[in-house]
Amino acid sequence: MEDSLPEPMMMQSKVLHSYVPWSDELAGSVIKGKVTERGALLPILHGLSATFGYIDPRAIPLVAEALNLSEAEVFGVITFYKDFRSEPPGASVIRLCQAEACQSMGADRVAQHAKKRLGIGFGETTPDHAVTLEEVFCLGNCALSPAAMIDGRLVGRVDEERFDKLLGEIVTRFAGVTT
Ligand code: FES
Repeated sequence: MEDSLPEPMMMQSKVLHSYVPWSDELAGSVIKGKVTERGALLPILHGLSATFGYIDPRAIPLVAEALNLSEAEVFGVITFYKDFRSEPPGASVIRLCQAEACQSMGADRVAQHAKKRLGIGFGETTPDHAVTLEEVFCLGNCALSPAAMIDGRLVGRVDEERFDKLLGEIVTRFAGVTT
């Protein structure tokens, strides 16, 4: 098995997830839609994250002003929760479950394999921005451990071989949009 990614993945630039590029206007509308919710800070941050795939630093003053908080308070919450990325994700986002049920079925082995194949650790993105690798703790798919989520799609029984197959599918999809 090769240690580096196949060429098509290294050359791609098209995103496979459904996040949209940052926009002040859209961020403002996400904030406005949730500002009246009880304990609005977390719903707003989750909303921004679900829309853009990360929380752009430009969101901090917008959120602070909307909630009458200091920018330091908003920044503190963003950095406290591991779920919030501060940078845009790669074109494809692979999330591997590392919770107990999946661990008992070899999730750690799969994680080590994925890190080696991609050349990155959890929370990192390949230098070409093709793939972001993340750990999650229970995807609600314990019966099919080890579980993963790839660009929002839940998959089960992910051993090293299946991981490579799934990675191959990502490469094929990239090839399909770049040819
Ligand atoms: S522990 Fe992995 S899906 Fe529940």
